[in-house]
Amino acid sequence: MSDGAGVVEAVGEGVTEFKAGDRVVSCFFPQWSDGLPWGEVGNFAGTPGDGIDGFAVEYAVRASTAFTHAPSGWSHAETATITTAGLTAWRALVVDGSIRAGETVLVLGTGGVSIAALQIAKTMGAAVIATSSSDEKLERIQALGADHVINYRQTPDWGKKVRDLTGGGVDHVVEVGGPGTLAHSITAVRVGGHIALIGVLTGRQGEIPTAVLMAKQARLQGLIVGSRRQQRDYIVALNQNDMHPILDRSFTLDQLGDAFHYQASGAHFGKICVEW
Ligand SMILES: NC(=O)c1ccc[n+]([C@@H]2O[C@H](COP(=O)([O-])OP(=O)(O)OC[C@H]3O[C@@H](n4cnc5c(N)ncnc54)[C@H](OP(=O)(O)O)[C@@H]3O)[C@@H](O)[C@H]2O)c1
Repeated sequence: MSDGAGVVEAVGEGVTEFKAGDRVVSCFFPQWSDGLPWGEVGNFAGTPGDGIDGFAVEYAVRASTAFTHAPSGWSHAETATITTAGLTAWRALVVDGSIRAGETVLVLGTGGVSIAALQIAKTMGAAVIATSSSDEKLERIQALGADHVINYRQTPDWGKKVRDLTGGGVDHVVEVGGPGTLAHSITAVRVGGHIALIGVLTGRQGEIPTAVLMAKQARLQGLIVGSRRQQRDYIVALNQNDMHPILDRSFTLDQLGDAFHYQASGAHFGKICVEW
């Protein structure tokens, strides 16, 4: 519950950026306003839902730097997807990846980060290859604009398949799997490409084919979400487009446990929300 969105009820003395009635969204690193990541941004001590209380609450009293304005025309549930999944995908492709029109992006699975990455990539004029364990989800992601889809259960060598489809590899991989998928992602990336190392869906450590990575001369960039400035830039971009996040199911606050069980089941497509 790092991700929260709602309405400002009141502001403290000296706060000029917000006023009562404004729609806002929380920041993953309230203390990281801008610039490169630094010491405290290397852990989760100041992150809502981790080192400090998250947003499984009706009211929250926080420093004004813990929020940015919400995009116009988005519901609170849609807006809450920005804090972690949306901003991570934005940083991976736009900030760290400097994505350009005509490039190709590989997204793994159909969770929150991957679908946000697909939407950003398509908006930026890139082609997208998407994987999933489910043919039904692959159909849905194709309807969202994926140019090629691969069932990673039926095609365990999906990295090679991606390399063959692209005639040499993709420009960017949005790597949410971790040790169980990274070797395939290294196969899938082009020489000189970029892998955004984001997720731990298959575990926290494992072997990396270092010589292949070296020969590919690819950039493997770890990242944890982003700064408040990057969130504001992302929201400026969202306000210029009619992109909306993909919401799966919504739960009420007293069904919070059910929401986490549902996420653990992996049945979802996009984001799960808790509303009241
Ligand atoms: N570094 C960061 O800043 C950052 C930020 C956000 C999230 N994360 C991490 O990134 C990961 C994804 O986050 P999320 O919120 O998008 O998760 P999520 O919504 O729970 O995504 C789950 C989906 O991932 C796919 N998946 C699971 N195992 C897979 C595998 N072996 N290969 C390919 N796809 C697989 C499945 O898609 P299908 O059902 O389609 O197969 C599953 O439904 C998590 O580990 C999360 O902790 C990191």
